[in-house]
Amino acid sequence: MSMDREKQLAAEAAVELVKDGMVIGMGTGSTARFAIVKLGERVKQGLKVKVVPTSEWTRAASMEAGLEVVDFSQVTRLDLTMDGADEMDGALNLIKGGGGALFREKIVATASDRMVVFADKSKLVQHLGAFPLPVEVNPFGWQVVAAKIAKLCPQVVLRQKEGKPFLSDNQGYILDCHFGVIKNPPALELELKAVTGVMETGLFIRIAKMAFLGDGENVVEVVPK
Ligand code: 5RP
Repeated sequence: MSMDREKQLAAEAAVELVKDGMVIGMGTGSTARFAIVKLGERVKQGLKVKVVPTSEWTRAASMEAGLEVVDFSQVTRLDLTMDGADEMDGALNLIKGGGGALFREKIVATASDRMVVFADKSKLVQHLGAFPLPVEVNPFGWQVVAAKIAKLCPQVVLRQKEGKPFLSDNQGYILDCHFGVIKNPPALELELKAVTGVMETGLFIRIAKMAFLGDGENVVEVVPK
C-alpha cells in the first residue's frame, strides 16, 4: 500500500467531519492537498464552508479547488482545523513545519475549536525528535538565537533554499533542530519560546484532539493518551 494512498484515506476521513456553515482551517502539505481536493468535491455538491489557509501554498491550492477562501483577519474563531504532521506521539503532541508553515499552522489551529490531524501511519512515533524540529526565528539576530538553541540541541541547521536562507510566508528563517529524541516536549516548548527571537516552534503540545492515520486500506482514529 502506498504512503500516498494512506495519506489520501486519512485526509478524506477528516473531511467527513466538515458540516455546512463551518469555518475550516486548512493545513499545508501533501496530505492536506488530498483534503483540499476532497473538500472541493463536497463544495461542488453543495456544501457551504469557508476556508482559512495556513500558507500561501494552501491559499492557491484551495482557490484552485473552488473553495471559498477567507483571510485570517476576517475571523475570530474557527470550527475545525485539519492539518498534517511530520511526527506525532501517543499524546498527540506533534512536530510540524516540514513545509515551513508552522507559524500560521499553529496560530490557526489554536484559534479553532478543534484540530484534527491526518497522516500516514509512519508519522506515529514513540518519542518525538527523529524528525528535525523546525523553529521559526526572526532573521535579525538569527545567529545569536541559533547559538542559544545550540545549548539545548546537538545540531542546529539554518534551512536553505536555492543557496539562500529559506524564507517562510511570514518572512522568518527556519532553524531545523536535530534533537534525536525529545524527552520532554512540553518543557522543551517552554525553553525554546523563552529565547528572544524565536517566533514559533513546530512543537504542537496537546493542540490536536484527534488524528486519522492511514494504515493500508484502513483509517485508524487516534485520541490523545
Ligand atoms: C507543513 C507541515 C506539514 O503538515 C507536514 O510537513 C506534513 O506534510 P505532508 O502531509 O506532506 O507529509 O507541517 O509545515
